[in-house]
Amino acid sequence: MSRLVFVLNGPNLNLLGKRQPHIYGHETLADVEAECRTLAAELRLDIAFRQSNREYEIIDWIHEARETAVGIVINPAAFTHTSVAILDALNAFEGPVIEVHISNVHKREAFRHHSYVSLRADGVIAGLGTQGYLLGLQRIARLTADEPA
Ligand code: DQA
Repeated sequence: MSRLVFVLNGPNLNLLGKRQPHIYGHETLADVEAECRTLAAELRLDIAFRQSNREYEIIDWIHEARETAVGIVINPAAFTHTSVAILDALNAFEGPVIEVHISNVHKREAFRHHSYVSLRADGVIAGLGTQGYLLGLQRIARLTADEPA
């Protein structure tokens, strides 16, 4: 039976590849989705890959994941640093949650050093570029396997 993982992206990530490429690189979000789909097939995971600039939509997707998904990989983008509501939604999700940041947020402005989402995340990946998404998927695959390591 295949397992569904939600890969959720927050505000401005629709501009990936065009927005501050010296920080976020040249790959687009469509490129990242394609890479995630290739890896997910190898890991025998299904993925729902989504992006929104609206906080409520991300919250609704996390609620949807409660019913359908085994895990969540999330790059909440700027909502990382502001959203108690996304934290609360993730706290209502039972499976593993991996938080991903393309840039190393700890090397940047002080306001990026705090993450509400990290209070819930089982793992946090920052500064590994878009590879972080792939590592997040691998971790979810392992944590949701029959015999997790
Ligand atoms: C980000 C880091 C956040 O601080 C920022 O607001 C983003 C992207 C990252 O992937 O590095 O939009 O989550």
